Amino acid sequence: MERLGSQAMTEKTNTPPRRLRFEIFRFNPEVPESTPYMQSFEIDETPYMSLFIALNEIRERQDPSLQFDFSCRSAICGSCGMMVNGRPALGCRTLTADLPDTIRLHPLPVFKLIGDLSVDTGTWFREMAEQTEAWIHAREAFDPDAQEERMDDDLAEQIYERDRCIECGCCIASCGVANINPDFVAPAGLNRIARFMMDPRDSRDATDWFEVVSNDNGVFGCLGMMACHDICPKELPLLDVYAYLRRKALAARFSG
Ligand code: SF4
Ligand code: FES
Repeated sequence: MERLGSQAMTEKTNTPPRRLRFEIFRFNPEVPESTPYMQSFEIDETPYMSLFIALNEIRERQDPSLQFDFSCRSAICGSCGMMVNGRPALGCRTLTADLPDTIRLHPLPVFKLIGDLSVDTGTWFREMAEQTEAWIHAREAFDPDAQEERMDDDLAEQIYERDRCIECGCCIASCGVANINPDFVAPAGLNRIARFMMDPRDSRDATDWFEVVSNDNGVFGCLGMMACHDICPKELPLLDVYAYLRRKALAARFSG
């Protein structure tokens, strides 16, 4: 807020713009002789500049080889996650006005590095979906002539809430367990499990779910540090998700 205030002041008084220094992780894993290093760039801040705008300016005017991902520019596609001064965030919705003069950018950990700030989140999410079988397991074969099944509004709302995940990977990068255990389904995976667990069209019973979620790669692998909950740019209620899954897992354990 303080910086937004100073930005407004800059516009009003015509004082010189803030000079921003970017220190950006550079590495191309495709080039065998390449080694990781940090490269510095300087640009003038403009009003309401996001990291998306700043990185594009650097790429257009200073180094066309700089790799980073953006698509929607409005916190919908999930492709612009990166470490911003040590904290996972979406580049498109992070304003430089909220950051200090020196901005250090790294790629998200956990995911395979494509180059510089660009990582492959798609492979991680596909493997997680296969591991948790994140799709509706229908009771009956699809009947195109069947009447549409009704769903309670509150339940539909709860499922929709979990479906708001944009698969940006920020929660996974912030998770200490996901950083050391590649089989941990991580916050986004647990959120996905909860989404299908509460869906009445999914035929998996308590025993099936117990296999998926009640182990160290599932909800009992979570150490409860909860950085994911603080980091999620869509403000998904991840604390509620874990509480829901633990209750379900314990109920399944003691009902069997
Ligand atoms: Fe991103 Fe939030 Fe989904 Fe994690 S739960 S992948 S932080 S939107
Ligand atoms: Fe789509 Fe940032 S560019 S979420």
